[in-house]
Amino acid sequence: MIAIACDHGGFQLKKAIMAHLEKRGLEYKDYGCYSDASVDYPVYGKAAAQAVASGECQRGIIICGTGIGISITANKVPGIRAALCGDCFSAQATREHNDANMLALGARVVGEGLALKIVDTFLDTPFSNDERHIRRIAMIEG
Ligand code: RB5
Repeated sequence: MIAIACDHGGFQLKKAIMAHLEKRGLEYKDYGCYSDASVDYPVYGKAAAQAVASGECQRGIIICGTGIGISITANKVPGIRAALCGDCFSAQATREHNDANMLALGARVVGEGLALKIVDTFLDTPFSNDERHIRRIAMIEG
């Protein structure tokens, strides 16, 4: 299950991503927001992050205008490694190296086509399981 959330700045892109996940047959749970009306991104970023941290969802996708506010929010939740990605190289590397469990996107930064490629790269790339990466990830939490 994928947790997905946005603020008003990310609402249109979230709709496109949800349609894309449906096409791929991937299940998601939408933690809001539910319109273009102005809202506070921490409310939604925190809800999705808590769903991932609790194990209710295995991955998360969070979107705001820049991706910055909502990724800072998610990373405050223990156990969350949210990666703000604007390119596929970063999306692949953060899965392989950081075992990132949430992807943050800036809807005012990346276009829809690139955003969907980043989503696919993030979801389809496994963690490397390399000893050095396991060690470094443990150091983040410790
Ligand atoms: C909302 O205007 C904007 O500040 C928000 O979407 C995000 O970019 C914050 O980091």
